[in-house]
Amino acid sequence: MLERTLVIIKPDAVGRNITFQILSMIEKEGLKPIAVKSVRLSKDEAGKFYYVHRDKPFFESLTNYMSSGKVVVAVFEGENAIERVRKIMGATDPKKAEKGTIRNLFGIDIEKNSIHGSDSPQSAEFEIKFFFSEYELL
Ligand code: RTP
Ligand code: MG
Repeated sequence: MLERTLVIIKPDAVGRNITFQILSMIEKEGLKPIAVKSVRLSKDEAGKFYYVHRDKPFFESLTNYMSSGKVVVAVFEGENAIERVRKIMGATDPKKAEKGTIRNLFGIDIEKNSIHGSDSPQSAEFEIKFFFSEYELL
């Protein structure tokens, strides 16, 4: 199924100047970048984006981290884009991420793991609308 998914290059990766190195790993897998931009989230916005985790013990730290510096947000399109990006990302904890995945190569720890990717068609729809207008997605 042709899908779209939202990717965020997190502050740890933007800060180390590896944004486009990571985005090209996804592009090289045959996924098409539809829209890309750089934004700085407030703590409140980070909380709205990660609202599904609002009751988790790591929520406070996660929203501080995600609002600590610029992030780059991107929409990628392709067949089974959601699952394919999740596979290229690797497991949440870089120590457990498969060799050659983005988090294995670049992740610092379970929080500063360099990249976010939508995990379902429902979250992709919410997350793409969170950052992009219809006009930006034409
Ligand atoms: P993401 O949503 O960012 O793509 O990551 P994910 O699905 O692999 O992991 P998720 O469970 O949704 O967690 C969201 C983000 O919260 C941070 N986290 N910290 N300290 C911790 O135990 C912990 N667990 C998760 C990570 O930045 C994770 O990507
Ligand atoms: Mg997640």
